Amino acid sequence: MNVILLGPPGSGKGTQAKRIEQAHDMPQLSTGDMLRAEIAADNALGRRVKGVMESGKLVPDDVMITLIRSRIRMPDCRNGFILDGFPRTLPQAEALDVMLRGEHRQIDHVIEFEVFEPNLIERLFGRFTCCNCGASYHERYNRPKVEGVCDVCGACEFICRADDRPEAIKTRFEAYRRQTAPLLPYYDRRGILQKVDAMADIDTVTRQIETILT
Ligand code: AP5
Repeated sequence: MNVILLGPPGSGKGTQAKRIEQAHDMPQLSTGDMLRAEIAADNALGRRVKGVMESGKLVPDDVMITLIRSRIRMPDCRNGFILDGFPRTLPQAEALDVMLRGEHRQIDHVIEFEVFEPNLIERLFGRFTCCNCGASYHERYNRPKVEGVCDVCGACEFICRADDRPEAIKTRFEAYRRQTAPLLPYYDRRGILQKVDAMADIDTVTRQIETILT
């Protein structure tokens, strides 16, 4: 089963992807996490994308397509994957279709995270993420079960993301509206788009997703 999670910044894609990953034993492919790992490694790609990401703009399609192409060919993706943050533009969606067709695979579900945008700003301001696995937490809505310890991987270091600043958040929302939202009719026409109410609490959103996937 191959799944795409589609929704604006802060809608809960990463939080739910981690839960699907654990429940269905399929990897979360978060392009944001992949890029942040490149930046942390301070390699050529990381240095190229750092400024773009911190500004809230999208990284060029060719970079993203190359990154995801090599990732979905890895053995752990053979039985399925969860795309979190990809595709984000029509050229990325079209390239993904070509990649999968070439391997006789397809996208089975595209899940849209429906939200009330003004409320997402509070989610992004309160967010902190695990330095090791990228799991997202929130000061009010989603604290680790054991204070200071990541529920997913047990690491003890957390950071606030460099793009969770007011100007960058504004740019990210604009990029979603202009470049990513057109993917909704693209997948709807194929009959594989389903929606969840992403303003509900985290467990309720998980249950809505499970209804779609099972
Ligand atoms: P990326 O890392 O993909 O960020 P994003 O899409 O902006 O999404 P976020 O990670 O901010 O939010 P989320 O929906 O995962 O929410 P989360 O679960 O964390 O991309 C970052 C950047 O990388 C882009 O701007 C771009 O520059 C670049 N990039 C990445 N992919 C690219 C691509 N394909 N093409 C080009 N550029 C690309 O939740 C948010 C907070 O809310 C957390 O604190 C969480 O605990 C809390 N929360 C979650 N759900 C709920 C709930 N139901 N109720 C209450 N609180 C909740």
